[in-house]
Amino acid sequence: MFHGGNIRACCEKYKIKPEEIIDFSSNVNNFKYSEKIKNVLLENIGKINIYPDIEQKYLRKAIAEKENLEYENVILGNGSIELIYLISKYLSPNKIKVVIPTFGEYEKALKAFGSHVSYFRTREKDDFNLNINLLSEDIEDETGLFICNPNNPTGNLIESKQILELAKNLKRKKVFLVIDEAFIDFCQDKIDPFLRKKLLEEKNVFLIRSLTKFYGLAGLRLGYGLADKDLSMLLNQMQPPWNINCFAYEIALHILENKVEDQEIRDYVRSEREYMYSALSKIKCLKVFDSQANFVLIKLLHHAINIEILEEELIKSKIMVRNNKSFNLEGDNYFRIAVKDHHVNEFLIQKLKEILIM
Ligand SMILES: Cc1ncc(COP(=O)(O)O)c(C=O)c1O
Repeated sequence: MFHGGNIRACCEKYKIKPEEIIDFSSNVNNFKYSEKIKNVLLENIGKINIYPDIEQKYLRKAIAEKENLEYENVILGNGSIELIYLISKYLSPNKIKVVIPTFGEYEKALKAFGSHVSYFRTREKDDFNLNINLLSEDIEDETGLFICNPNNPTGNLIESKQILELAKNLKRKKVFLVIDEAFIDFCQDKIDPFLRKKLLEEKNVFLIRSLTKFYGLAGLRLGYGLADKDLSMLLNQMQPPWNINCFAYEIALHILENKVEDQEIRDYVRSEREYMYSALSKIKCLKVFDSQANFVLIKLLHHAINIEILEEELIKSKIMVRNNKSFNLEGDNYFRIAVKDHHVNEFLIQKLKEILIM
């Protein structure tokens, strides 16, 4: 499994109907606005035979307003994944460092454009926390660095002050910093807006954001990048025209302009995550890692059950979890679960207890 949420493959393998699956493998937030969003879709159905606005001005402006920047700083992507590939193309071919364990697509994208990838590994004994000083010292002949904040799959968040310090260190070494913040909306209230603005002033930084995770728009696809104006102009020129379809454009605009209940989503996810952390930590053969995002990394320490067996047992209850493949974790006994609605979270906890404690 390279990505979570591959319901079709799972249904084919286990002969289950897609609507029966309880998907803990994908870390996309539950979709709370279906009626409103459905209306926006229907209201815009007439736009299906018209090209979307080529400058994408209104949406870029709405994003700039949210981010306290100007619209020239914003680049839209067909999901944040398009921007990961875009910046990889811009930086390549070169030697780029990736902080691991992390999302496997950075390495794939960088290699696809001919870059050589080196790694900086955070360790389980440090709870996967990143030591900025060690990382800065470890950069030798690399020209770029990729980090994910908060990191997928560990859920660790690097503080704004540390990120700024890292960007400054890297600038002195002429190293470009890419920060994937696809999950940062889940802990936006822990980010210092002043220091974040300063970060882009460093000019050697590209921030990647996603609307698909927090607002549950994985099928619609919308992400954005934030960069200094000159770089943003260059990257926008590299993008194909009309890369955002009219529905993604209008729905994102609607969400941003109506300031959908961001804090409410954050509070709910946070309280469910804390509930899951506390309940799962009580299961002796599980080591649960603290997370700032809408997913939790877990290490399985059972003497007789490995991840494959656990996956097979959970699928009998139609539960899908995310195995450790593709994150570059040391060891194969980790899995990641999404934080979902309370009643399904309870169901998963119950099933894990039945499988692991019996
Ligand atoms: C860390 C991270 N970044 C980016 C993405 C891409 O998300 P999207 O293209 O839906 O915005 C993912 C998807 O799983 C992810 O985990």
